[in-house]
Amino acid sequence: KRTRQQLWEEQQLGNSVTRSNTDEICLPESERYEYVFDKEAMIDFTDNTDDMLEDSNEEDASDEEDEEKKELLTQLQTEIDRIKTVTDSRKLLPVYAFRKELMEAVDKNQALIIVGETGSGKTTQLPQYLVEDGYTQGNKYQIAVTQPRRVAAMSVAARVSDEMNVVLGKEVGYSIRFDEKTTAGKTILKYMTDGMLVREFLADNELSKYSCIMIDEAHERTLATDVLLGLLKNIMKKRPELKLLISSATVNAKKFSAFFDNCPIFNVPGRRFPVDIHYTLQPEGNYINAAITTIFQIHTTQPLKGDILLFLTGQEEIENTREKIEEISSKLGSRIPQLLITPIYANLPQEQQANIFQKTPDKCRKVVLATNIAETSLTIDGIKYVIDPGFVKENSYVPSTGMTQLLTIPCSKASVDQIAGRAGRTGPGKCFRLFTKYSYENELEAMPRPEIVRTNLSNTVLLLLSLGVKDLLNFPFLDKPQISTLTKSLENLYVLGALNSRGQITDLGKMMCEFPCEPEFAKVLYSAATHAIAGGVLEQCLSIVSMLHETTSIFIGSKKEATARIVSEIDSDHMLYLKVYEDWKNSNYSRSWCQDHKIQYRTLLRVRNIRNQLNRTCIKLGISEKNLILMGENGVPENLIGSKVTKSFVSGFPLNIVQLKSGGYQTIGKSKGGLNVNIHPSSVIFQNQKEKGKKLDKFILYQQLMLTSKEFVRDCIPIPTGTWLVEMVPQIFSNLNNDK
Ligand code: CDP
Ligand code: MG
Repeated sequence: KRTRQQLWEEQQLGNSVTRSNTDEICLPESERYEYVFDKEAMIDFTDNTDDMLEDSNEEDASDEEDEEKKELLTQLQTEIDRIKTVTDSRKLLPVYAFRKELMEAVDKNQALIIVGETGSGKTTQLPQYLVEDGYTQGNKYQIAVTQPRRVAAMSVAARVSDEMNVVLGKEVGYSIRFDEKTTAGKTILKYMTDGMLVREFLADNELSKYSCIMIDEAHERTLATDVLLGLLKNIMKKRPELKLLISSATVNAKKFSAFFDNCPIFNVPGRRFPVDIHYTLQPEGNYINAAITTIFQIHTTQPLKGDILLFLTGQEEIENTREKIEEISSKLGSRIPQLLITPIYANLPQEQQANIFQKTPDKCRKVVLATNIAETSLTIDGIKYVIDPGFVKENSYVPSTGMTQLLTIPCSKASVDQIAGRAGRTGPGKCFRLFTKYSYENELEAMPRPEIVRTNLSNTVLLLLSLGVKDLLNFPFLDKPQISTLTKSLENLYVLGALNSRGQITDLGKMMCEFPCEPEFAKVLYSAATHAIAGGVLEQCLSIVSMLHETTSIFIGSKKEATARIVSEIDSDHMLYLKVYEDWKNSNYSRSWCQDHKIQYRTLLRVRNIRNQLNRTCIKLGISEKNLILMGENGVPENLIGSKVTKSFVSGFPLNIVQLKSGGYQTIGKSKGGLNVNIHPSSVIFQNQKEKGKKLDKFILYQQLMLTSKEFVRDCIPIPTGTWLVEMVPQIFSNLNNDK
């Protein structure tokens, strides 16, 4: 019997790279999915309203007029009304009933674990209670609330500033990488990513400006959250007045409590409506088609009141699925009520993120396409149907090869249970699982693996060392990382020059920590500025590194077409990004240039912002090309820029290199054989080699390795000769077999 994972992989193989074009559109008229209805598997209800299938008779059309009137009224509401409404709605949240007990518990304990249903008010209310109870002593102290995800930090900060009736960025602000909205001396409540708070330890290792810290969504167990918990455990004894709140889904609560000397767990009983779980009869190979069919099936057979939430694994999948749904619904035209498709994923441009919270218009059904961001971090009201393909993208680091693979794997049981709960937030709901009941019961892991045991720890190790943590093995980790991963990190950092041969952090290592980017990129910039051979291209590398950091697509439509519009021939993705940025800069950062060249203007604005910040760090650290005497008055000659850029990247990413071997590319590594990889079709190099028939380059440096059923490398730069590798990183490449 084949597992879902195998089916999925076969499907991927069959469709390989062009799958989004070749897939048949699945029309709702085509075969319908059959589901088994599983009453037993209903997740535990606290509010057991028998069977909910008949509950939705209160239909829409009739109260159309009422709705109109209501909307008018809403518009006429004065500011006082608004505040009253806010106050009232705050009082309706489940945490409100426990406010007194909660605050007493905070008062009595230094650390407190808080468990409660999604939507009960933990994230938005608890920090406000702390402010209201004077924990900031005016604006003497701040309160930090961490989130694993950037989107959540921003959207929650916006919501809370609204509730507190203050301008976002003043009393209430947020801080995420490359984007900070706070005001010094004014901000008392700061929502931030967990990674940003970790970085604050560098500036102040007791976090003395905070009186309370709330680690939200701790059950997600991101690497940064785990590191934070360890660091906080260390400072709690030194700062007895510091309050620590840890909010978590039910799972894990005991583990957190044990970690903090058996601190109490406060349970906020939540509202939860019954959710019917439906399973497919057969395992599904193509969960995307199955999901689309299910959407139309729900849309055409279920009452219109009730929005749909579909979980997908990533941005690309979401955008492809969105296109397909829109294609089908435009074919069906007025035969079906309108569908409003709203995607949500971490890199979605900020201005579009708010769409998911918009009230669904009349005669219309909202379909939210989300990554697991909507699992617990974001509450979307009005969802009644949840479709769960049961897959998630997960990083997996293999220390022996030093490679990180992004794998699509089945979700854990804990996740699919959590996901089903999203259907029962505001009323009874239904969850369609695109896998079998057998699979749920027998194939799923109980819990997701915490990031710390499956990720590259180089950044973390460097940061901990620079914070003065000497004994990594005895650092209080909630789950110990693998020794092999730690060892590999030390090795990597040594190769980058961040550590000396005794494992101590070097000046370069300390500098790398100061950069708001991965140490590898910091090394690229450092080499680009100062290296005897590679140096002189800091300006160019700043632009490229910034472009690589912007994960939202830069191109409107296909990258290939946009490329053709900008340049007829280009060697690497890196140089393409540079060309885009420089042309835009030469157009005086104009919007119309972007429109003419099918480039996302707002994305480039963000790139410019990232670039400014990286540049400021370079200036602060005294890294600049001015130190270089080797270039004449006019800087680096044009024809050397490409090779210098390449060499700078080699110095930062010496482990991301593949070598041409018998007509294909293989990773270079001590481990047996090396892994065969393919160049992703989106890469300039793929087009050059496959379509323009260019000679294959001997080596290729990549920024990303993806694994579905085939290994793909992405964002690539060709390296014509092994000599460059030996020049830049002799520690690794001195033995390179460079005969051909
Ligand atoms: O953190 P928890 O899941 O317990 O709840 P929360 O995020 O504090 O959300 C409390 C309520 O605020 C939810 O029921 C949402 O309806 C509302 N909310 C919202 O409307 N918009 C947001 N951006 C965040 C919360
Ligand atoms: Mg929350």
